[in-house]
Amino acid sequence: MSTNKKAVLTLADGKSVEFPVLSGSVGPEVADIRALYGKTGMFTYDPGFLSTASCSSKITYIDGDEGVLLYRGYPIEQLAENCNFLEVCYLLLNGELPNQKEKDEFSTTVMRHTMVHDQLTRFFTGFRRDAHPMAVLVGVVGALSAFYHDSLDINNPEHRNISAFRLVAKLPTIVAMTYKYSVGQPFVYPRNDLSYSANFMRMMFAVPTEEYKINEVLVRALDRIFILHADHEQNASTSTVRQSGSSGANPFACIAAGIACLWGPAHGGANEACLNMLEEIGDVSKVGEFIKKVKDKNSNVKLMGFGHRVYKNYDPRAKLMRDTCHEVLNELGLHDDRLFKLAIALEKIALEDDYFVQRKLYPNVDFYSGIVQRALGIPVAMFTCIFALARTVGWIAQWNEMISDPENKIARPRQLYIGNPRRDVQPSGKR
Ligand code: SDX
Repeated sequence: MSTNKKAVLTLADGKSVEFPVLSGSVGPEVADIRALYGKTGMFTYDPGFLSTASCSSKITYIDGDEGVLLYRGYPIEQLAENCNFLEVCYLLLNGELPNQKEKDEFSTTVMRHTMVHDQLTRFFTGFRRDAHPMAVLVGVVGALSAFYHDSLDINNPEHRNISAFRLVAKLPTIVAMTYKYSVGQPFVYPRNDLSYSANFMRMMFAVPTEEYKINEVLVRALDRIFILHADHEQNASTSTVRQSGSSGANPFACIAAGIACLWGPAHGGANEACLNMLEEIGDVSKVGEFIKKVKDKNSNVKLMGFGHRVYKNYDPRAKLMRDTCHEVLNELGLHDDRLFKLAIALEKIALEDDYFVQRKLYPNVDFYSGIVQRALGIPVAMFTCIFALARTVGWIAQWNEMISDPENKIARPRQLYIGNPRRDVQPSGKR
């Protein structure tokens, strides 16, 4: 990682301080400034971490200018085409794609952990039926810490391994339970003989009164949606999981923290916000008026599903999501879907508009994901829960990498203090 290059900082008094430059396998080099405060008494200042690498990682690489996304070196387009979600889970967790034997063993182990402790069902009744599903998901996943005392020693690789299986396996069950609770239908138990994504679709949509028919085209589409959302470098929720894990918190608490962060409309909540935005625009004839609002800084209106901190080109996942949209809508005979046509028109207009071109704002993963999930019968409020389900494997892989990283220390940023210097308390009569 180290190079023979140096980054030189020249201070106001003319003195210079040198810092080592480190390079990765691909992507930008970094200036190792860990000694900055000790050498200069200064901190760096980077709200939102636009120019800050918080760690080294081997898991996911993004080239924002080229619109490239690699999981352990494999392009997302090839993984979406040639693998299923559990193979991608194996890859993210272990660093290599599984051979057939490894794939079968991994899938069997995951499918054997899909049930939740029956007492966990009681947590749901404490929530109002109309509670936002993400509020329920944060609570129930956090509660898993109370059920698995046998695997909370984060320094024990075996404990970390069993926690990983439990989380990847149980998130679909808990997400489906969250949905069933919201619509007042009975929970559907998982089935070990089904594939991961078919099992999830059945737990979401089966009712006790009739056999649930699996549609393999829709299952494959959902499996691909999981693959596209599985990991994405040091995004806000992954950084939250890493930050929580750096204090030694157990994996269930760390994943619950990641779910809470993902909920925000600037992050994982954007797919729900994007679909609500399309419903609000309503018709292609209203697109021009809406774009005008977006360009008016005082409106505080954003084109949800557009823009990205890293991608300054088309998010490769958005293209794959749009293709999946086509597939699902055609399978369901909905090629005339009003919102899909509106999204296509909105994308075209925005990509030709100077405001978006100048700021390099392109569709991101959330722009089409809401439309395809809605077509699959998933209600809008559940979209971010689906994102959390898929991202759990990425969060665990990143959390595992952090725990095993010899450079790992508790995350404790400093600040630029702009408040009151020291002053004395005056008696209330003199305030
Ligand atoms: C995800 O980090 C990840 O990898 C996240 C994610 C993952 O897989 O984990 O990829 C998932 O969160 C995707 C992003 C989903 N969010 C949205 O779609 C919400 C809408 N997008 C924006 O809120 C915004 O683009 C962000 C939050 C995604 C990125 O914001 P940045 O990098 O902080 O950029 P910025 O806000 O500084 O924007 C730069 C300029 C600003 O204009 P100026 O002040 O320069 O005039 O672009 C404008 C912004 O106002 N801008 C937008 C816009 N996004 C940015 N203007 C209108 N609509 C938008 N969507």
